[in-house]
Amino acid sequence: MMMRYALIGCGRISPNHIVAAQKNNLDIVAICDVNEHNMKDKILKFRLPASVKCYTDYKQMLEQEKPELVAIATESGRHAQIALDCMTIGHANLIIEKPIALSLADADRIIETAEREHLKVCACHQNRFNKSIQKIREAIEMERFGRMLYGTAHIRWTRDYAYYSRAKWRGTWEQDGGALMNQCIHNIDLLRWMMGDEIEEVVGMTDRLNHDYIEAEDLGIALIRFKNGAYGIIEGTTDVYPSNLEETLYLFGEKGTVKAGGQSVNVIEEWRFSDILDDPEEVKRMFHENPPNVYGYGHTPLYADVIAAIEEDRPPYVDAAAGRRALELVLAIYQSAATDSIVRLPLGECKTTDFTGRFGGAREI
Ligand SMILES: NC(=O)c1ccc[n+]([C@@H]2O[C@H](COP(=O)([O-])OP(=O)(O)OC[C@H]3O[C@@H](n4cnc5c(N)ncnc54)[C@H](O)[C@@H]3O)[C@@H](O)[C@H]2O)c1
Repeated sequence: MMMRYALIGCGRISPNHIVAAQKNNLDIVAICDVNEHNMKDKILKFRLPASVKCYTDYKQMLEQEKPELVAIATESGRHAQIALDCMTIGHANLIIEKPIALSLADADRIIETAEREHLKVCACHQNRFNKSIQKIREAIEMERFGRMLYGTAHIRWTRDYAYYSRAKWRGTWEQDGGALMNQCIHNIDLLRWMMGDEIEEVVGMTDRLNHDYIEAEDLGIALIRFKNGAYGIIEGTTDVYPSNLEETLYLFGEKGTVKAGGQSVNVIEEWRFSDILDDPEEVKRMFHENPPNVYGYGHTPLYADVIAAIEEDRPPYVDAAAGRRALELVLAIYQSAATDSIVRLPLGECKTTDFTGRFGGAREI
């Protein structure tokens, strides 16, 4: 039997979810949005059948449709409450768009509730499924790098007035955070994951240089010391003029150097190992994607994994704990920047609204 699926939030990223659901043969029973126009638009664009019900109230949708899998793609500040309701009212497994929550306490509640209710929760860090990233991860797991020495994540993108004026929640402390929390969290997740997850300390600086109409940062830079002795550098911004430049992930080990690049780490640009297990030119040719936008092709394989995780009763490849680790690292950078100090992990309770007012208010959009 096809798995009953519903989507909550039919905005900018929702097409990736609908396509992933269709390609994975999910039974789309409902879509939900407080904005009816956004729902109608998706029904038409994706030729969703008349059997797909539209709801403006997700609780009603959960009670009436009883989906087994729900994707949450609303503004980030609403993820946690909706996720908790989906699990407790609807007993649904979840794919939660990144970041899974805006506070560590909320992320913990999501993890605890999923465990208690025996439900699967996936954090939607779909870039982990890029062909390039999967190939790099395989090299990590085969220990081809030897000891990891350091890694860097650069995100040099553009987000302009038009982007923020389309959805006023973006760039607010209550519903979003800034460049690091929204645009850069994918690569921040990748860096932490590739470098062994465990972090000793973080020092960061953030600023709002060129977006006085948002509350949060448009530039963040950070240094990380991992528990295994390796170092990390993060540089993420939405200040690049006039269009997205690149998103790169460099990994340096004692026996290997790799660079994933392109607009969103979809391309392997350097592949150098002391072993001769493969031909670097062949690897660069094979593990290469050229998606139409920075969201890439990862939602479809991420959905396939979550469906398999439910069927096989195992954790998803990107579980809620992984989502929490990415969130923790961004919040640690925020805290270091705000307090002008080195922050040691694990971080105690911290949330984006702790930084309200940090760069002054925002000019009315
Ligand atoms: N994985 C990715 O690459 C990626 C890319 C873009 C956005 N995102 C994430 O996806 C989420 C949505 O971003 P977006 O750019 O699509 O935002 P958006 O503003 O375009 O869409 C959000 C939608 O959620 C709806 N909504 C709000 N509250 C609701 C509620 N209570 N019930 C039902 N619907 C509700 C809004 O009406 C809107 O249509 C954010 O968390 C963002 O960080 C992820």
